[in-house]
Parts: sequence; structure tokens; C-alpha cells
Amino acid sequence: MAQVFDRSSNALARASLVLTGLIVIALGVTLDQLQRSPWVTRQGQRADQPIPFSHQHHVEGLGIQCQYCHTSVEVSSYAGIPPTKTCINCHSQIWTNAPLLEPVRQSWATGASIPWIRIHDLPDYVYFNHSIHVNKGIGCSSCHGRVDEMPLMYQQNSLQMEWCLNCHRNPTGNIRPTSEIYNMAWEGASSGHPVWCAPTGKAADGKIPTAENVVCTTTDPKVNSDGSANVAMLQTPAPMAPLARPQSGDHMEPTSKMDSGTTTTNGAPLGETPAANYKKFTNQAELGRFLMAQYHIRTANELASCETCHR
Ligand code: HEC
Ligand code: HEC
Ligand code: HEC
Ligand code: HEC
Ligand code: HEC
Repeated sequence: MAQVFDRSSNALARASLVLTGLIVIALGVTLDQLQRSPWVTRQGQRADQPIPFSHQHHVEGLGIQCQYCHTSVEVSSYAGIPPTKTCINCHSQIWTNAPLLEPVRQSWATGASIPWIRIHDLPDYVYFNHSIHVNKGIGCSSCHGRVDEMPLMYQQNSLQMEWCLNCHRNPTGNIRPTSEIYNMAWEGASSGHPVWCAPTGKAADGKIPTAENVVCTTTDPKVNSDGSANVAMLQTPAPMAPLARPQSGDHMEPTSKMDSGTTTTNGAPLGETPAANYKKFTNQAELGRFLMAQYHIRTANELASCETCHR
């Protein structure tokens, strides 16, 4: 019987098989990329909010602290979105007639809350909790990026499982003193930006899993602010972090104990810990390992186990 398919068609068949294979692979890669693409994860997108609220303007420009508006971030799973009253505190006096602020006035007059569009939104089957992260030394900027530089809010990171696990498997690079939680510019300990920490010998109060037993500072505890040596005790603590603060006005007082420049991670005056107890850290890995132990961070296995986030 004559050959129906000659050698060349055989090669063609093989080539088309290879081609099909390639197309399948390409399709798979595309779908996978799509699943991770900012289009799906909403990474980087600016929502069309009822009011073009600027974090840059209010945080960096005016020096308002995060917890002035996101009041529950240290004590609950939710950071919370501020009620209209918070805006009215200032905007009953500032920019009172600006058209941009009409929805704020409407909301205040009618009592209906401003319909902010959610930017970050994990699926319901994922358990997340702000307070534990914040109290164990993970700063806002580690997850939300430079919020103080955002004219409009957007999602900086994918919030996909891989992203969470990346940190859960080894948080050392991301752990900071809890006094630096709100420091948007934090970049870790380095020889240019050393950090000094001392154990306080205190136990956690058990209410929230806060890091009560360590105190840290970004200014040398052995040197007074005038440059003279502070041998015995640390009497005049310098502000913790170079954060902008509200200028004046009672209603702008920060609600957080973490925020106050004269207290430490545990709210105790810095002066209680002798300067000699402080250890200097000039690299983040070393500081991270120290804080992991002080904060009693669970093992990588525990933190990456399914039950941690899927309950
Ligand atoms: C003057 C009040 C105010 C201050 C101060 C403030 N925020 Fe907000 N924040 C808001 C409002 C209002 C929204 C909702 C509108 C929006 O998304 O822009 C919001 C939204 C957010 C969101 C997104 C919420 C979502 O929908 O997923 C994050 C994250 C956030 N803020 C973080 C911060 C951080 C970090 C700081 C401090 C650096 C801060 N905010 C300071 C008022 C404030
Ligand atoms: C602590 C005082 C204070 C609070 C609280 C506050 N604002 Fe403002 N806001 C200001 C000031 C001051 C300006 C004017 C800034 C300027 O012109 O330099 C401003 C400006 C604005 C503007 C004009 C656009 C811009 O960013 O310059 C909008 C819109 C606005 N605020 C919305 C809000 C909303 C919404 C809230 C509540 C979530 C809020 N503000 C809470 C003080 C405040
Ligand atoms: C470990 C990462 C992480 C850290 C640290 C973190 N956030 Fe969030 N934040 C998230 C995630 C994830 C969501 C979405 C939660 C959801 O959908 O249930 C979120 C949501 C929010 C929201 C929207 C309202 C809400 O509670 O869901 C605000 C506001 C917010 N974060 C502010 C802050 C502030 C302020 C800080 C620092 C004090 C901070 N976050 C620290 C990951 C983080
Ligand atoms: C930058 C680091 C970092 C990122 C990103 C991060 N986490 Fe965590 N997470 C931690 C640390 C540190 C702890 C505290 C562990 C401990 O105390 O043992 C923690 C604890 C938790 C816990 C335990 C809460 C409890 O009460 O037991 C949950 C749940 C959790 N994270 C969920 C998430 C989810 C979901 C994401 C992603 C959306 C995420 N985390 C992203 C560092 C991170
Ligand atoms: C640190 C928190 C965390 C841990 C630990 C974790 N997950 Fe997830 N998981 C997430 C988040 C966040 C999402 C949502 C991802 C998204 O929105 O795309 C998710 C999504 C999923 C999904 C939905 C499909 C997908 O991939 O989007 C499955 C299935 C899943 N996880 C299984 C597991 C299993 C099995 C384990 C244990 C081996 C585990 N997860 C451990 C945070 C976690």
C-alpha cells in the first residue's frame, strides 16, 4: 500500500504537535499571569471615590496621624474608615464651601455615611487581623506602602496568598520596633540608621498581644540631646520617630499610646530603662532576629500553616 502520509507530512504533524503544545503552555502562562495581574488584584488602581480624599495632603501636608482617622487599628482586626464627624472636626471651619466637600456636608446633614469604595478587600474565607500585625512590629507601610505620598489611595501589594506567605515564612526583614509602626519612611536598621533596644523585663498584659517587654529608640540612649554622655539613666528621651504631628487643637490629639514621643513601645517612660542596657543594631537581619525573640513570634511552620489564615 502506498504511503498516505509521506515523510514531509510526518514532519508537519510533529511540528503541529509541538506548536499545539506551545500554544497550550502560552495560554496557561497567560491565564496564570492574568490571575496575578493588577487588573485582577486591583493593585495600583485608583477608585472613583465620592470625594477625592488625599492622604498625602492630610498625612504629610497637615501631619495628621493614621490613628486619628483609623482609630481601631491597634486594638481590633479592622483599621476602620473614619465617620463623617472626623472630617467635620476640621471642615466645619476649613474649606467650608468647597464643592469638593459637598458630599461631606450632605452626609453630615442627613446622617447617611459617605459611600467610600473599599480599596483593600480580602475574600471572606481569609482571616486577617490588624492588631496582631501592628502589635508585633509590622508597620502600615510594609503592607500599604507610602500612604503619606498618595494623593489618591491605591492598593500597593497584591494581597494574594503568596504575598502573605512571603512574610510569614520569614518576617525578620519586616519586623520593626512597635514605636516605628506609623513611620512611613522606615527602611530597617542600618549602619546609617542604627536602632537601640533594651529588654524591659516586663511581661505582656495579656489583653492584646503587644510587645511589652522591649523598648527601642532611634537616637543613641547613651548620648543626651545636647551631645553630652548619658551614663546612668535616660532622663530626657528624644522623640521616637521623625513623624510629623498635629500642630494644635484638642480634637487633633492622637489617641494612641504608641504615638507619644515620650513613651516607648509599652507606654512606659523611656527613662525607666538604664542606657547601659541598650544594644545597638546596625543591620535589619540582626534587629529582626532580636525582635522576633522579644515579641515571641511563632515559627515559620506555624505562621505558614493553613489554619492561621483559613479558619
Ligand atoms: C484625615 C483622616 C485620615 C488620615 C489621617 C488617614 N486616613 Fe487612611 N483613609 C481615610 C479615608 C476617608 C479613607 C477612605 C477613602 C480612601 O480610600 O481614600 C482612607 C482609606 C485608607 C486605606 C484604604 C482603605 C480601603 O478602602 O481599603 C488605607 C490602607 C489607609 N487609609 C491607610 C492610612 C494610613 C497608613 C494612614 C497614616 C499614614 C492614614 N490612612 C491616615 C482617612 C484618613
Ligand atoms: C485635622 C483637620 C482635618 C481633618 C480631620 C480633615 N481635613 Fe480635609 N483638609 C484639611 C485642611 C487644612 C485642608 C486644606 C489643605 C490645603 O489647602 O492646604 C483640607 C483639604 C481637604 C480637601 C481638599 C482637597 C485637598 O486635599 O486639598 C478635601 C477633599 C478634604 N480635605 C477632605 C477631607 C475628608 C473627606 C475628611 C474626613 C475623612 C477630612 N478632609 C478630614 C484639614 C482636615
Ligand atoms: C500585614 C499587613 C498589613 C498591615 C501591617 C496593615 N494593614 Fe491595613 N490592611 C491590610 C489588609 C490585608 C487589608 C484588607 C482587610 C480585609 O479585606 O479584610 C487592610 C485594610 C485596611 C483598611 C481598610 C479598612 C479595614 O479595616 O479593613 C485600612 C483603613 C487600613 N488597612 C489601614 C492600616 C493602617 C493605618 C495600618 C498601620 C497602623 C495598617 N493598615 C497596617 C493589611 C495590612
Ligand atoms: C510583612 C509581614 C507580614 C505580612 C505581609 C502579613 N503578615 Fe500576617 N503576621 C505577621 C506577623 C509577624 C504575625 C505575628 C505572628 C506571631 O505573633 O506569632 C502575623 C500574624 C498573622 C495572623 C495570626 C493572627 C492570630 O491571631 O493568630 C494571621 C491570621 C495573619 N497574620 C494573616 C495574614 C494575611 C491573611 C496576610 C496577607 C493578606 C498577612 N498576614 C500578611 C507578618 C505578616
Ligand atoms: C498567611 C495567610 C495564609 C496562609 C497561611 C494560607 N493562606 Fe490560602 N489564602 C490566603 C489569601 C490572602 C488568599 C486569597 C488570595 C486571593 O485573593 O487571590 C488565599 C487563598 C487560598 C485559596 C483560594 C485559591 C487561590 O489560590 O486563590 C486556597 C485553595 C487556599 N488559600 C489554600 C490554602 C492552603 C491549603 C493553605 C495551607 C497550606 C493556605 N491556603 C495557607 C492566605 C493564606
